[in-house]
Amino acid sequence: MYTTSLLVRQPCQAASPPLKTHPLHLRCPQPTLHCSTPSGTKTSVANCLCLGLRASSATLPPSSRASRWSLGGMTALVTGGTRGIGHAIVEELAGLGATVHTCARNDAELCSCLKKWKDGEESFQVTGSVCDVSSRADRQRLGDTVSSLFNGKLNILVNNVGTNIRKPIVDITAEEFSALVATNFESVFHLCQLAYPLLKASGSGSVVFTSSVSGFVSLKSMSVQGATKGAINQLTRSLACEWANDNIRSNAVAPWYIKTSMVEQVLSNREYLEEVYDRTPLHRLGDPAEVSSLVAFLCLPASSYITGQIICVDGGMSVNGFCPRTY
Ligand SMILES: NC(=O)c1ccc[n+]([C@@H]2O[C@H](COP(=O)([O-])OP(=O)(O)OC[C@H]3O[C@@H](n4cnc5c(N)ncnc54)[C@H](OP(=O)(O)O)[C@@H]3O)[C@@H](O)[C@H]2O)c1
Repeated sequence: MYTTSLLVRQPCQAASPPLKTHPLHLRCPQPTLHCSTPSGTKTSVANCLCLGLRASSATLPPSSRASRWSLGGMTALVTGGTRGIGHAIVEELAGLGATVHTCARNDAELCSCLKKWKDGEESFQVTGSVCDVSSRADRQRLGDTVSSLFNGKLNILVNNVGTNIRKPIVDITAEEFSALVATNFESVFHLCQLAYPLLKASGSGSVVFTSSVSGFVSLKSMSVQGATKGAINQLTRSLACEWANDNIRSNAVAPWYIKTSMVEQVLSNREYLEEVYDRTPLHRLGDPAEVSSLVAFLCLPASSYITGQIICVDGGMSVNGFCPRTY
């Protein structure tokens, strides 16, 4: 395991009185007298009931703007953070004040990223460990590492790793099928199970999955990858409902073509790239930072009422119906 430990600049937090949980489970600065409504105004407990505000074990979001847009004091695990979308997510979360742990299989690449995050222009609080998420034993070790690093508490789990094998359905071998399912879905499911006690212990957890538009629409030669992303989409919804009482939210982002090493080769074919542009209303590829900003938003207290959603980051591709060039 490697560690960088430079301080991260954090936005100022407005001072607020300590909140206690009222017996009715509404957060009240003065536990026996007042409650905060979702709009932030204070009202008496009796009024809460009159207004029909339902007592809930979930905590209300912080009311100051600075707190709603900060990840200061939060901990995060981001899988696959050395390249592409995962790399951008690590930087986005750390830049907003989170302490992040990431993993990848390539030791040298991981070391070089950690060095950059420590010594670069912007310094981030990031640690990392080598882990192949398709291995159950590696996942278990990763879970133990994160638990001990963050004292048994985790606010954010970003299940980002995913891979692809482009082949027609009839040509996919049993080994390829198993490898895709193990890396793209089994790993994600197990990491959620491992992270659950840590997310719950944090008091405010957020899980974000990197899905794909292939989980919604058919993409040529991507049947198994698309099926694993479809499974992730449903897991996103199931977790949102099953873990809501623990104040753990669950959302997914679903990109179309984003400029990363994963798609470099296929997009090096000029004709193919032109077809991608034609199919994309914004007529360009996406940048990893255009995905990581959405992931960060879904982790921020600012999105505290959003759960169970799968949001496309696709330049409009998934809503593109008929767009003739001749008209
Ligand atoms: N790029 C796109 O156009 C696009 C579109 C839709 C969805 N997505 C999804 O976005 C996610 C990230 O894709 P990307 O394009 O950013 O990929 P990428 O550029 O290939 O980066 C993948 C990252 O994950 C790590 N990784 C890969 N397999 C791993 C494993 N078995 N265990 C641990 N780490 C592993 C890689 O490091 P090591 O190789 O060292 O392990 C690397 O850090 C994937 O889930 C992908 O399906 C991407």
